Amino acid sequence: MNENVLEMHNIEKQFNGVPVLKKMNFSLKKGEVHALLGGNGAGKSTLMKILNGVYTKDAGQIRIDGQEADLHSVEDAHKKGIAMIYQEFSLLPAMSVAENIYITREWKKGGLIDDRKNMKKAEELLKWLEIDNIDPRVAVESLDVGYWQMVEIAKALSQDAKILVMDEPTSSLSKTETKALFKVIRQLKEKGISIIYISHRMAEVFEICDRVTILRDGVNVATVESRDTTMEEIIDKMLDAAAKTSFERVERNFEQSGDPVLRVRDFAYGNKLADVSFDLYPGEILGLAGLMGSGRTELVESIFGIRRNWTGDVAMRGEPIKSKKDAMNKGIALVPEDRRQEGLILQHSIKSNFMLPSVRQMRKGFLIDDKKGADISREYIEKLSIKADSIKQMAMLLSGGNQQKIVLGKWLARGPRVLILDEPTIGVDVAAKAEILRIIRQLADEGVAVLMISSELSELVAACDRILVLYNRTVNKELSGREIESEEVLHHAIQGL
Ligand SMILES: Nc1ncnc2c1ncn2[C@@H]1O[C@H](COP(=O)(O)OP(=O)(O)OP(=O)(O)O)[C@@H](O)[C@H]1O
Ligand SMILES: [Mg+2]
Repeated sequence: MNENVLEMHNIEKQFNGVPVLKKMNFSLKKGEVHALLGGNGAGKSTLMKILNGVYTKDAGQIRIDGQEADLHSVEDAHKKGIAMIYQEFSLLPAMSVAENIYITREWKKGGLIDDRKNMKKAEELLKWLEIDNIDPRVAVESLDVGYWQMVEIAKALSQDAKILVMDEPTSSLSKTETKALFKVIRQLKEKGISIIYISHRMAEVFEICDRVTILRDGVNVATVESRDTTMEEIIDKMLDAAAKTSFERVERNFEQSGDPVLRVRDFAYGNKLADVSFDLYPGEILGLAGLMGSGRTELVESIFGIRRNWTGDVAMRGEPIKSKKDAMNKGIALVPEDRRQEGLILQHSIKSNFMLPSVRQMRKGFLIDDKKGADISREYIEKLSIKADSIKQMAMLLSGGNQQKIVLGKWLARGPRVLILDEPTIGVDVAAKAEILRIIRQLADEGVAVLMISSELSELVAACDRILVLYNRTVNKELSGREIESEEVLHHAIQGL
């Protein structure tokens, strides 16, 4: 008797002659939650795309329920009961939640799509998942990015999967929403569904996963029971050098002085936010905490001139901000949460992506200083440990975490006066997270004002001089200095307790 629902043996995969997976082995038991861990670019998504029929392996075998499986398309994989929730969203924003869930096989009535049945099915599924705040009738684009992930999960489960791959499902979820997801995962486990779980949030692994496989440079370096290992051991196996992974809070002795650089007064946005007022000072790291959908992203996008339908006063050094262009000219930078959609031109090289927001600064008369662009790209590839073949590589071909780092890097390279970060460490590995926090502190020490949204409370606690908690449509609480003592305190404030 073989209890493995899935066995992957000696899987090999190259891209343009560069080996990404080298005799990689992986197995999955029935009803197991199995973590697949590794640094950015280790090969996790590639292995899972092979399992899902998106990429074809160069060598090796895949067995499902003991039977050799030939997976040449996503359809093949579906037939074998494999479903994957991608790191990159695969939803159609303009279509409704229900349409997205059942798009691959909508119920038809005499050749026509049976909308009512789709809607009813979607409703049942969302109810079963205990996701009660999503209306299947609304367009996906009207939902917060965090909810897109929930729709992805519902979509995958609608396909009667017995093996479910989740590639960083919680990267934009807060603690409360993550708990809701874990509840769903436990239900699935009980029903005998096996889950492969990719995450860069180490603590989650111990909470939800039975076993852990660590991938490093395309090789399985260890598969262990999670109760038999520790976070330190995992990180040690995962990363090359002894990575600086300290998330200890660093007291910065910051004191507000002079005039604030950014001033927000009586800000209101639809029925999401009202009466929001705060100041941001040069050299300050100000955190913005709140639940998914609490309006954090809307607030910073309004400040940056992207959104229009708000009221109140927002001023940068005393002057109102008229548009995104105006915001950029005034020295504001915003690193968006959904970087694949908003932050990157996927078909362009790393270098062009780096040059984009800085083109003005790189102009020499009518010419653009290409060398400067190349220098900056190299500098940030080094600073953020971006894994790429060359600066000419297309952004599309980079791993998820490395794409994230490019977007972050290109805004840092602009040398902003006010740096707004929406989930700055989403998708990056633990070493890069610590490094990004270090860079943020360094910039603040140089006088940059930082406004940072994060769902990872440990990050806010580690980095911020002050934290505003959005709850019930407004700034419900403000914590500063010694009040920012633990994640617990912050967690309670976010839940309005
Ligand atoms: N289609 C492709 N063409 C060329 N190179 C690719 C392609 N897909 C992936 N790669 C490369 O393969 C390597 C592994 O990428 P993969 O996406 O599997 O990493 P990952 O472990 O999922 O990382 P992350 O944690 O950042 O998501 C990376 O160096 C990436 O640039
Ligand atoms: Mg990946």
